Formats: sequence, structure tokens, C-alpha cells
Amino acid sequence: MKISALDLKKQIAPIRKEIDLAIKEVIDNSSFILGSGVSRFEENAAKYVNARYAVGVSNGTDAISLSLLALGIGRGDGVICPAFTYYATAGAVANIGARPVFADIDRDTYNISVESVKKILTKKNKFKIRAIIPVHLYGQCADMDGILKLARKYKLKVIEDTAQAFGAEYKGKKAGTLGDCGSVSFYPGKNLGAFGDAGLILTNSKTLAEKLKILRNQGNKNKYHHLVLGRNNRMDTIQAVVLDVKLKYLDEWNKKRQPIAEYYNLNLSGLNFKTPFVPDYTTHIYHQYVLRAPVSNKGSIEHLQSKGIDSRVFYPIPLHLQKCFKYLGYKVGDFPEAEKAAKQLFTLPIYPEMTQEEKDYIICSVKN
Ligand SMILES: Cc1ncc(COP(=O)(O)O)c(C=O)c1O
Repeated sequence: MKISALDLKKQIAPIRKEIDLAIKEVIDNSSFILGSGVSRFEENAAKYVNARYAVGVSNGTDAISLSLLALGIGRGDGVICPAFTYYATAGAVANIGARPVFADIDRDTYNISVESVKKILTKKNKFKIRAIIPVHLYGQCADMDGILKLARKYKLKVIEDTAQAFGAEYKGKKAGTLGDCGSVSFYPGKNLGAFGDAGLILTNSKTLAEKLKILRNQGNKNKYHHLVLGRNNRMDTIQAVVLDVKLKYLDEWNKKRQPIAEYYNLNLSGLNFKTPFVPDYTTHIYHQYVLRAPVSNKGSIEHLQSKGIDSRVFYPIPLHLQKCFKYLGYKVGDFPEAEKAAKQLFTLPIYPEMTQEEKDYIICSVKN
């Protein structure tokens, strides 16, 4: 049997007609960038998360960079982010000239450790720290009360990296709406995926939303009047209309992932693998279902892959040990939990359309 990490063909088939129609309309109108298709999606996405504003952008990485710029953060400013996340969280910081300041992760949730952030903030830093980017990794929220408390105390901005958790909830509020900004990625493999690159920024601040709209569009408010040094980070209309169709199904899809995770948890309990830990304060939308091996994920991955199961490691090298961040001066041992997670975690396929046979085959292969 072959089981991929996710199957987008199965997701798209039942809504194909709706999507085709939406794309046809964009082609008929020949309006391909921003415009009413993007505004409609922004309104619906804002309503979905109960935020006052949503600003459509080119991808989730730019959503982070633009949020930082709109918050007045840039060259030389320190921005705290977890050492264990996708590259883009810190890449977006470094690419605007700011400096990623890494924090370790929590041993159980794999999200940023509030204790580690506290340690950074209470020591003397070479750089003025201006912001924190908690990442809601794998589909569940970071400890936002802890982060927001520190942010208030040290007057820091908070950008929630919601790339993997669009639709998850922290104490009843949607991920991405608790900080100053929430950045979202609609990379095709995300729970809500576009047909290419796309992203979104959530905020409750009118001033920020207005700044973001100017920054994403070459610093323009009115054409050819460039108020600030902006970027070309606009959202494509085709992506917006595809996302607008899919948004209606997102909760249904996210809900279907949960019983799959519960089925894995139940059937894999009592083995040597640690199943996901979900604190009371958050829901989990299982963008990834992650197991932890006792020492190394290598044997598990190789075995599962030999059985045709697309098990993966997100992420094999923590960010403080990536070559591109060598200039920051971190070394092995600086973030032990991030380093352990990189060695021990591995995923099992999870997507709403999985069959019983597939789930049982995966469980049987893990047990073997
Ligand atoms: C945690 C995290 N942050 C940021 C991004 C960047 O999003 P994008 O690929 O849309 O630029 C991703 C997606 O890949 C991600 O998983």
C-alpha cells in the first residue's frame, strides 16, 4: 500500500465545480491581482476568525515580514522566535534586517517555551528586543497567556505565526487574533491551501491594517503615489477565490482530522512512542500528527517509508544550527529541547479523506 502525507486530489474532487466556476469568473473579469475577489476573501476570513481586519498577501513568509515592518520593527531589532519551527519564521525576520533571537521549545507541546523567553528577556542582550513570534506549531496554539504577559511587561509586539494552525482556538479565540498581528500561510499543503502561494495577516488594529495594505502594494495608497518603501506582496485573485470556496469547508475538514488523531492515540498507546500532548487551553487541528521516538526517529522513518507510508521529519535541523543562521553565533547544546525534537519527532499521514484501511495499515506498521 502507498499512503501519501496528504491527498489534495481527494480534497478537491467534491468541490471541483465550485472552484472551476470561481476561477472562470476571475478569467472572465480579467482582474488577476487584488480587486473584489481578494476583498471578499479578506472579509470572509476576518469573519471566520472574528478579527476586525484581514489583509491578503503573497505568502505566509511575507505575512511575517510585512507585519514586522508595519509594527515599525526592522534593521538591528531583536525578534524572539522558537529555535524549532519552519525556516520561514526566522527567515522573514532576518530578511528585513532584524535579528532572530532564538528561544527553546516546551518539551511536551513543541511550541515556544515561555520560560526560555523569560530567560532571554531577563538577561542583558546585545540587541534591543522588540517582538516575539510564537509559532502555533503542527496545528495547536502556543501558551499565549504566558507570551502576552511577557510582551506587556517588556513592551514587545507579538506576531502569531499561524501558518499551521488556521482555525485552531486558544481558550475559545481563533489562533492569530490574540497578538498584534497573526500571519497565515495558504501554502497548498496547509489545512486551508491555495493553488499556489498565498498568505494573510490578521489584526484588530485599523491603523495596522491600513499600513499593511500600503506596504503590500509597493507603498501605494493611490496609484503612483508611493508613501513609503513598500514591497510587491499582493495576493493573486485566483488564489483568493479558491480560498474563499475552500474556507466554507475548513471547519468540517479540521474536525475530520481530530478523530483520526484520536484513533492513532488510542491504538498506539502503550508503545514506546509519545503521542501528541494537547494542553487544555488549545484545540488541535492536526496540521501534522507527530510521534516522538525515545532516542532517534531514524529507524521509525525508514521502516514506515519502506512500507509505503509517507512519514516525515518536521524539522530535522533546528534553526540555531542552520548554516544560514551561523552568523548569529549559536552552537550545539544552546537549545536542548529543540535539538531533541529534531532527532526524535516524526509524522504519520493525516488528512480528512483517509480511509479506515489506511489508518489501520499505518497503525499496524508503527506497531511492527
Ligand atoms: C510555521 C511556518 N511559518 C511560516 C511559513 C511560511 O509560509 P509560506 O510557505 O506561505 O511562505 C510556513 C509554511 O510553510 C510555516 O509552516
